[in-house]
Amino acid sequence: MLTSNLYVFLVFFVTYIQFSHPLCNNIEALYNITARVHLTRSEKGFNYNGNLYNLDQHEVIDVTQGNVTDLCEGIVKKFPKLQVLSLINVNISKIQPNAFLDVPKLRVLSLSVNNLTEIENGCFNNIPRLEILYLSGNNIHTIGNTAFQNFHHLKKVHLDRNQLTRLEANIFSGSPNLHLLDLRFNLLTIVDKNNFPHLQPTFKGPITFLLESNQIDDVDPSTFEFNNPVKLHLQKNKLSTISNLFHGLRDYSTLNLDENLLSCLPDDVLDNIKTTNKNISIKQNPITCDCLKNIENSLGDGEELFGVGVLEYSSMFQCFGQISF
Ligand SMILES: *[C@@H]1O[C@H](CO)[C@@H](O)[C@H](O)[C@H]1NC(C)=O
Ligand SMILES: *[C@@H]1O[C@H](CO)[C@@H](O)[C@H](O)[C@H]1NC(C)=O
Ligand SMILES: *[C@@H]1O[C@H](CO)[C@@H](O)[C@H](O)[C@H]1NC(C)=O
Ligand SMILES: *[C@@H]1O[C@H](CO)[C@@H](O)[C@H](O)[C@H]1NC(C)=O
Ligand SMILES: *[C@@H]1O[C@H](CO)[C@@H](O)[C@H](O)[C@H]1NC(C)=O
Repeated sequence: MLTSNLYVFLVFFVTYIQFSHPLCNNIEALYNITARVHLTRSEKGFNYNGNLYNLDQHEVIDVTQGNVTDLCEGIVKKFPKLQVLSLINVNISKIQPNAFLDVPKLRVLSLSVNNLTEIENGCFNNIPRLEILYLSGNNIHTIGNTAFQNFHHLKKVHLDRNQLTRLEANIFSGSPNLHLLDLRFNLLTIVDKNNFPHLQPTFKGPITFLLESNQIDDVDPSTFEFNNPVKLHLQKNKLSTISNLFHGLRDYSTLNLDENLLSCLPDDVLDNIKTTNKNISIKQNPITCDCLKNIENSLGDGEELFGVGVLEYSSMFQCFGQISF
């Protein structure tokens, strides 16, 4: 009787430990690191070698050497003054939920050039002031649908040079200050209308989307229907039409479609283009010279200025030009 009760208790206890605290096999990973550190942002930096937790009065910590395979729950804890933290190229392959605790001033976090494959929900919990996040140069293929939600100060997210094939719906809802999203050099094939519908910017200027060098062949025209103009960089993708995309963008947007698969500008765009204030670049597409002649005829001799937009174009077939309208 007693032994069986003890057994039940033990099973319960072990299960409790496993499920309430994710395992961490490198809890000492930050006891011995090399870093460049600044006590305050304006003060000169110096090199540091030793225990990261002794730097709890510093504002800037740039870890340059270490082996931090797993950013365990609570591993970056109690840095009340820390504003900028870099953990670049230190072999991180996993971030556990709640890895960061008590970092009330952390604004800039860089985890570039590591071995991350997945960004789980909760990875960036407890970083209330986060403004700029670098995750460039990992192997990220999956991002949890709420991992980036509700960051009121988040301005720039760098996810370039990863393995993303798609984005979750509403990935940035509740992050109304997002100015720049860098997704260059991934494996995206479509930009879906569900990606950003709840992006409700509280600022007036443009939002920049860097999507160049993906495999995109389709962009849902309603994707960018918030009130701000966008700077949409879609160079080096696989787009063969501009039509819907052009009509979906707000005034004063810019659209770069250099090095795609456009064969001509459709008539509905040509008709509209004279009065638009959007800037469009379609350089180095397989546009025929006949098509370009047609564009030039349709848009006049370049001396008549109708709007304030600019169309820049050239073709892979050695015809080129620029028209202001
Ligand atoms: C890096 O850390 C991992 C896990 O903590 C360990 O298995 C590995 O041996 C370490 N590598 C080096 C080079 O110290
Ligand atoms: C800290 O790590 C370095 C290599 O990165 C090593 O040479 C040194 O012995 C380590 N120090 C301690 C106290 O473990
Ligand atoms: C990176 O981590 C892996 C284990 O995840 C380990 O085998 C390897 O030695 C680490 N590399 C370095 C450079 O520390
Ligand atoms: C990524 O992990 C592999 C093995 O898992 C390791 O050899 C390599 O050094 C790691 N890369 C970085 C940037 O730490
Ligand atoms: C369009 O291009 C012109 C000339 O390069 C520039 O003056 C203008 O600011 C651009 N408009 C937008 C919306 O970026």
